[in-house]
Parts: sequence; C-alpha cells; structure tokens
Amino acid sequence: MRVALTGTPGTGKSAVATALEQQGYFIVRLNDCAKENACFDGIDEERNSQLIDIDKLNKCIKKNFATDTLVFFEGHVSHLLTAMDKVLILRCYPKELKKRLLEKKWTAKKIKENVDAETIDVILCEAAEKHPVKNIFEIDTTKKTVEEVAASIIEIVKKKFQPTKSYTIGQIDWSEEILKEKSS
Ligand SMILES: Nc1ncnc2c1ncn2[C@@H]1O[C@H](COP(=O)(O)OP(=O)(O)OP(=O)(O)O)[C@@H](O)[C@H]1O
Ligand SMILES: [Mg+2]
Repeated sequence: MRVALTGTPGTGKSAVATALEQQGYFIVRLNDCAKENACFDGIDEERNSQLIDIDKLNKCIKKNFATDTLVFFEGHVSHLLTAMDKVLILRCYPKELKKRLLEKKWTAKKIKENVDAETIDVILCEAAEKHPVKNIFEIDTTKKTVEEVAASIIEIVKKKFQPTKSYTIGQIDWSEEILKEKSS
C-alpha cells in the first residue's frame, strides 16, 4: 500500500517520517525520489526551488513501488499523486504553525503564505480533488508530540484505514482564524 504523508510545511512531515522510520516503517522522501529520477519541471523563481513534475513522479512511483508492501511517501505534494492508495494529512492550528515556522527562521512572507494555506484547508481541498474522501485522513498535530503523531499513524494503519472518529476528514475547522486575523 502506498501512503502519502502530506501537510503544510511545518506540520511535521519530516519529523514524523523519521519517527516512523525508527520504528521500522519504510519511508520514501519525495524530494529525494524526484531528484534520483530527474522528475523536475523548471524552477519556481519566487521560491527559489525546483518544481516537481507530478505526472513523471507518479509514473515512476507506480513502476518502482509495488502496492503489496506498506510504503509512506513523505512530502508536501504527495497528495497530488494518484499512485497513492491512502492520504494522511498532518494539520496544525495556525498560531502554533506560525511558531514552528518562526523557529525554522522562515521569512514573514513565507510564513504568512503557509499559515493562510493551512487555515483555509488548501491541502485537504487538493487531496479531495484527486482521491475519494474515504481514503483521506487528517491528524491534528497541534497538541501532540512527534512520537504521538507517529503513534496515531500506526493506529490508522493497524485499523486498516477504517473510518475513525478521530481521523475522518472534515472535523478540523480553523476558518475563524481568518476573522481573528482581520480584526487584529
Ligand atoms: N508534533 C509536533 N509538535 C511540536 N513540534 C513539532 C511537531 N512536529 C514537528 N515539530 C517541529 O516543527 C518543525 C517543523 O517540522 P518538520 O520540519 O518535520 O515539518 P515539515 O512538515 O517536514 O516541513 P517542510 O514541508 O518545510 O519540510 C520542526 O522544528 C519540528 O521539530
Ligand atoms: Mg520536511
């Protein structure tokens, strides 16, 4: 089974992937996978980063990774790949996300762009365009440690991705943060 581990930058994808790896799970870091297979398509000049060629990466993953073993594909575009059987979205309360990104020393502009994206569910909307909603799960990382987030993921896996009260999509709603931001 191919599982996307996605989320807005700062929600903890890399940290959680490392925690899962330490427990023996197989992780593919999408940026590395794209590099190794030359799956880039130009440069995002504004962000000074290479643009991943989603179609090429998708084909490459379908060819190279069988669906009979559990593999987590970590990266903020993993939910755009139709090769994924399941999608796990890490979420974070916007104010906490801002703190995490400030610690990463990101610029104010980049922080705002990502906190806004998290507030209005950008990744969830993108995922829902590509995957049936029953295959998408959201994990609120705000009050969890990295290890607890990894444990939540293992719980979802062990329960064979059955719908659960805690992780079924649509329960996270931070839209009120937009109003708060406007009035502050
Ligand atoms: N559950 C958590 N609780 C507290 N801090 C966390 C949690 N998860 C991650 N962090 C911290 O937040 C920061 C961002 O985490 P991380 O780099 O793993 O995010 P990411 O989603 O991989 O971001 P990017 O898309 O930029 O690679 C790190 O400093 C990390 O230690
Ligand atoms: Mg990362």
